[in-house]
Amino acid sequence: MSAQRAIAVEALNVQEAAIELAALAAEIAEHDQRYHGQDAPTISDAEYDALRNRNNAIEAQFPELIRADSPSRKIGSMVSEKFGKIRHAVPMLSLDNAFNDGDVLDFAARIRRFLKLDDDATIPFTAEPKIDGLSLSLRYESGVLVSAATRGDGAEGEDVTLNARTIADVPQHLKTAPAVLEVRGEVYMSHADFAALNEKAAANNTALYANPRNAAAGSLRQLDANITRERALKFYAYAWGEVSAFPSETQSGMVAALSQYGFKTNSLMARFETAEGLIGHYRMIEAQRATLGYDIDGVVYKVDDLELQRRLGFVSRSPRWAIAHKFPAEKATTTLLAIDIQIGRTGALTPVARLKPVTVGGVVVTNATLHNAEEIERLGIKIGDTVRVQRAGDVIPQILGVEISPPDAVPFVFPHQCPCDLKTPVVREATGTGEEGVVSRCSGEFACPYQRIEHLRHFVGRKAFDIEGLGEKQIAFFFDDEELPVKSPADIFTLAARDAANLKKLKDKEGFGTLSVAKLFEAINARRNIPLDRMIFGLGCRHVGEATARVLARAYGSWFAFHEAALRVAAGDEGVRAEMDALDDIGDAVLDAIARYFAEPHNLELVDRLAAELTIIDTEKPSGASPMSGKTIVFTGALERMSRDEAKAMAERLGAKAAGSVSKKTDLVVAGPGAGSKLADAQKLGIEVISEDEWFSRIGG
Ligand code: IVH
Repeated sequence: MSAQRAIAVEALNVQEAAIELAALAAEIAEHDQRYHGQDAPTISDAEYDALRNRNNAIEAQFPELIRADSPSRKIGSMVSEKFGKIRHAVPMLSLDNAFNDGDVLDFAARIRRFLKLDDDATIPFTAEPKIDGLSLSLRYESGVLVSAATRGDGAEGEDVTLNARTIADVPQHLKTAPAVLEVRGEVYMSHADFAALNEKAAANNTALYANPRNAAAGSLRQLDANITRERALKFYAYAWGEVSAFPSETQSGMVAALSQYGFKTNSLMARFETAEGLIGHYRMIEAQRATLGYDIDGVVYKVDDLELQRRLGFVSRSPRWAIAHKFPAEKATTTLLAIDIQIGRTGALTPVARLKPVTVGGVVVTNATLHNAEEIERLGIKIGDTVRVQRAGDVIPQILGVEISPPDAVPFVFPHQCPCDLKTPVVREATGTGEEGVVSRCSGEFACPYQRIEHLRHFVGRKAFDIEGLGEKQIAFFFDDEELPVKSPADIFTLAARDAANLKKLKDKEGFGTLSVAKLFEAINARRNIPLDRMIFGLGCRHVGEATARVLARAYGSWFAFHEAALRVAAGDEGVRAEMDALDDIGDAVLDAIARYFAEPHNLELVDRLAAELTIIDTEKPSGASPMSGKTIVFTGALERMSRDEAKAMAERLGAKAAGSVSKKTDLVVAGPGAGSKLADAQKLGIEVISEDEWFSRIGG
């Protein structure tokens, strides 16, 4: 607090008042940024309110001194706590990566195989820079910008409409455009604007942004759109979501149309007929990279024909028809200061290298992942060595090897016990093939406090329960709190009841003002109704990532059905295991993990206590309207119009399950020429058999 504030407002003279208002504006802006921008407030709500009240009182006394940047004029940033959510009409996907020319040739070959084209068939592709910013989806209805959303988790993003409206490259109105048009592209900051922003921040003694991408993201996600306006953000359009009428049937034609509608599109986009052509363009862009004036981290290749794009579809979260050819990682050398052991949610002991800070590609690197004990051995690193490090895009920095090893460098001894209080012996887990694995794991499961707290962090994470106001910091606080401990996910939902004494206990804790406590309970309550896939993901079962959780949720539909099946798998029921095994993306690793998880008494208690607190929302089975929905289909024989993979993908898109063998559960067999035993099995079991042409006519293709 400045000395000025000790003086009663009535006793201030004009100079003192002006000085104090300037200080208050800066101080409040900084706290706003910490609270809203970084989710990391450093003062209590009460202290914050006191600052604003003092500001208002001085302004009431000296109205002529109200500043342009006065906190009292920026009410917006006070009331709109966090951004609202917008569900994307069409999911926003990510891209698979290619790291060398071979990966690009494989990509083209994969596409030809999937489409059942000859090896020498030409497929036109586009190639364009991969802009290193953040993606944004703009929705226009009747040519008017109605909303703008960040990517978020791909299904749901943050509503940044007001901020997007301040970007000069984002048109507010389109002259000619389809009635509904979602334009997608990248928000980025030029090198020049980034340098100017950081220069200003340095002069004001505020935090600097690490790179233009962070600066773009931080600037777009400002609660006060006036700040976004000052940040000179730019936007390149390169994709779309929902479109009521397509102006073109090619990627290049669509981008040309976007340019006509008034969007900036990248001039380095070009069309090629061969993978070699794409690679040539990549080299050309790579050579110009330093002079472009903005960051790019690779070149994106896309199949030009939209009909082929539709046929190719998606694998998990990325399209089969596009790939990002990344530029090689940037490298530097530094000193290995120490190796720490972190314990993950599933008990894996992961060594982390602590490095002397070094700048690699514009970002200060202080840690690098070492994966496991074997990696330390393979690299031959000792504490005190000078090591080579690299970082590529968002990837955690890696150590490549030793540059110089001084005589006093100290070898690292991997612990044989978990550093937790239990001191449980570390086990080297066997791999699927029965060999000793490379992962060292604490055998304490959820009895190990490190694993419990990691699980809680996972549980409240964005892709699991996503509880606003309950981040890593608050979890760490509650975990160690003696009065209101949260040691297991269910404890989160009993917090309010345990704190019945008028939220009093919490309110008294550092960093929890009345306002934030009420908000926290509201956020927790909002998550008592939880979609099944988030529930399954939140359990923190090994190998069950968000994609797998979604597959399980879609297959079982309800918590009851999933829980029952998981318990049966744990009890060794081979039939239920085989059914689960038939699901996409689910193999032995997932099944073994589910079996282990649901056989462990600690976990069962955790799950039951949690489920008792929640209403778990059923997952709808996909595309109920399709004639193939819910059916189990077997494709056999030589298919002529599509590859086996395409057939399988098509069936899944229509809500059916593509199975590998015919059984009583099969509903339909699609047989091409040369079909053998599967056709015979189908006939024996009286299952309907149709031709490939009949398949297309039934699905309306
Ligand atoms: S196409 C369905 N084109 O890269 C595919 N993405 O790693 C949609 N990106 O989330 C993406 N430049 O934010 C595409 N020319 C470009 C891009 C680009 C940058 C970003 C985008 C996406 C991420 C995937």
